[in-house]
Amino acid sequence: MGCQGRTIGGIVGLASSRTVEVVAPKSSLTPCILDDDPAQLEMLSAVIADIGYETVLTSSPEEALQLVKSGHCRLVLVDVHMPRMDGYEFLNRVSRSDPGAHIILMTGDYTLESALEAIRRGASDFMPKPIDRTRLKRSLDDIAALYDQRRRVGALEEQLLKDLEFHGIVGKSPAMLEVFDFARKVARHYTDVLLVGPTGTGKELVARAIHQISPVSQQKLAVCNCSAMVDTLLESQLFGHVRGAFTGATDTRPGLFEFANGGTVFLDEVGETSLPMQAKLLRVIENREIQRVGSPEVRHINVRLISATNRDLRAEVLAGRFREDLFYRLSSIHIRIPSLKERLEDIPLLVQFLLKKYNGAYGANILGLTRRAQTVLLGHGWPGNVRELENVISSACITATGDFIDLADLPEQLQRPEARSRGDDDWKPLSLEEVRKVHIQRVLEMCQGNRLRTAQFLGIGRTSLYRYLKRDGLDTRKEKTGGAAA
Ligand SMILES: Nc1ncnc2c1ncn2[C@@H]1O[C@H](COP(=O)(O)OP(=O)(O)OP(=O)(O)O)[C@@H](O)[C@H]1O
Ligand SMILES: [Mg+2]
Repeated sequence: MGCQGRTIGGIVGLASSRTVEVVAPKSSLTPCILDDDPAQLEMLSAVIADIGYETVLTSSPEEALQLVKSGHCRLVLVDVHMPRMDGYEFLNRVSRSDPGAHIILMTGDYTLESALEAIRRGASDFMPKPIDRTRLKRSLDDIAALYDQRRRVGALEEQLLKDLEFHGIVGKSPAMLEVFDFARKVARHYTDVLLVGPTGTGKELVARAIHQISPVSQQKLAVCNCSAMVDTLLESQLFGHVRGAFTGATDTRPGLFEFANGGTVFLDEVGETSLPMQAKLLRVIENREIQRVGSPEVRHINVRLISATNRDLRAEVLAGRFREDLFYRLSSIHIRIPSLKERLEDIPLLVQFLLKKYNGAYGANILGLTRRAQTVLLGHGWPGNVRELENVISSACITATGDFIDLADLPEQLQRPEARSRGDDDWKPLSLEEVRKVHIQRVLEMCQGNRLRTAQFLGIGRTSLYRYLKRDGLDTRKEKTGGAAA
């Protein structure tokens, strides 16, 4: 009954002779007391038990750090003057590895300046010794209330993540909730849909969600990336071919429209198709008719078309690169997916979702982001949208050494503000050749090294891109893959 704390870390035999009233623990905060003086440990432990908290005692800073890391103790009361690691160094180490933990520094040399300095460095409180019981109680109760509040918020956020996940798509911004709502409404009707939005915003996810909640969810969904293939290959992919239709056509094969008959075909990057291919797609939409390459036979199919583009199709029509009639047929029901920059409030939820995903995938246990890393994420422009955020979080899950993702775990262009704001501010009278080089590098960076995507953004062929990269001495890196293909 008289023992207030469990003792570890080289201090033994701390059973107190003092008898105190047993008080039910107030909170699962479990303060840890770190002091090299056993008498202080015993004394403080008795006081804190009397206030109503169960404590853990140690004289080893490493053990105290471990107790914080494992989540066992969320508060450490630490003596400023200790031989191996002083209280400030301990505070630094905890702030780096777990910004959510609370530290109370205790000292015999209290001054107002040192107290303010400790608070500036992230301490929850700074207490003069001998410890005043009333003051200590107030401080512990305040921290416990904050801790319990954070835990409740954490549980709510977890629930929120579940509630705000729409078929694997996460978002709580009004703009995304509107997307979910509209997608839910149109999915019920077996109608064609156009998804418009910048790269990496989740168009393919929305297409899959629409299929999943449509009346034909039991039927097939075929995905075709229209920009990944030359016209002849794309035609045979979509419409199929008969044996001997072209060199290499050694057998007769149905295309994706037949494969997904009764279900859905997702045409990604439809804005990249050629005018002749657009005419064939129009025929599918208007008459639900297809012909295998090399066959005169007309086949009737019944598929829902979901198309996606990151181009402004109206501008493409005006430029003569996209058929107006196809544009109107495709866009009668369209959903615009906003860029991540337009919905920065989704970032914390997305980060939580992605951490869960990549902790699971890599067997990691990253608990979150440090405050400064969070600030950087909220200040970034996200040209690659959620795909870029996903890449940042997944690679940080591999490289992070602590339990929290910190600045050093983020890509260089996010760490250095000058790299982030390369733009009008650092305008220089460059030659056109120089501008081309810098521009290609930036687009390549945005596409995380994916050259196919880079070429698409630049509006040039892959061969031309390779030529430029070679000329600029950038062709040595291995190509990163990505993007959906059929
Ligand atoms: N709201 C979201 N919640 C969870 N993951 C998302 C979300 N939006 C995008 N992602 C993830 O980001 C990546 C890119 O998404 P997706 O391929 O659907 O984008 P896209 O708009 O089709 O891009 P592109 O135009 O380049 O083809 C995927 O890994 C996807 O899982
Ligand atoms: Mg896509």
